Amino acid sequence: MKLNQKLYQLLNEQIKHELESAYIYYSMVSYFVAEGLDGMAQWMTAQAQEELLHASKFFNFIGERGDKVELQNLEISKTFWKSPLEAFQDALAHEEFITGKINDLMKVAIEVNDYPAKVLLDWFVSEQVEEEDNVGKVVQTLSRIGDSGQGLIMLDRELGTRVFTPPPAEEENA
Ligand code: FEO
Repeated sequence: MKLNQKLYQLLNEQIKHELESAYIYYSMVSYFVAEGLDGMAQWMTAQAQEELLHASKFFNFIGERGDKVELQNLEISKTFWKSPLEAFQDALAHEEFITGKINDLMKVAIEVNDYPAKVLLDWFVSEQVEEEDNVGKVVQTLSRIGDSGQGLIMLDRELGTRVFTPPPAEEENA
């Protein structure tokens, strides 16, 4: 069954938002690398890789429904930060923005009774809870650390343990 036009437009736009997320997070990676914060760079690289996976989930879904993806220009308003706290606060604000977009998509999928879209979006609803929680915890820790160099070094080490695990092939196409 082809996609409802409004749902198609929002799904197509969501690919852009997920790619914007990856672009913003890779910009943060470059900031962290320049600051010698390799652990944060590693953490944010995994985050950016997850965003590419999110974009591909929407990309594949549109194709599977017999529609054509129309890629759009990315809109990026900021690519530099003055502190790790500012970067992670921006990441959290961005995730909240994305959660709003996923919720908008879910509303339309329900309105038009598109059950396969709802199944796809169920995954994203849970994923956003996890994403906001993960980024929010780093913001909290950075706020507590304040100006402590020692605290920053310890957090950087801890964040450096995060690795991106690609999903099994069949799940990637879900
Ligand atoms: Fe794809 Fe971080 O939301």
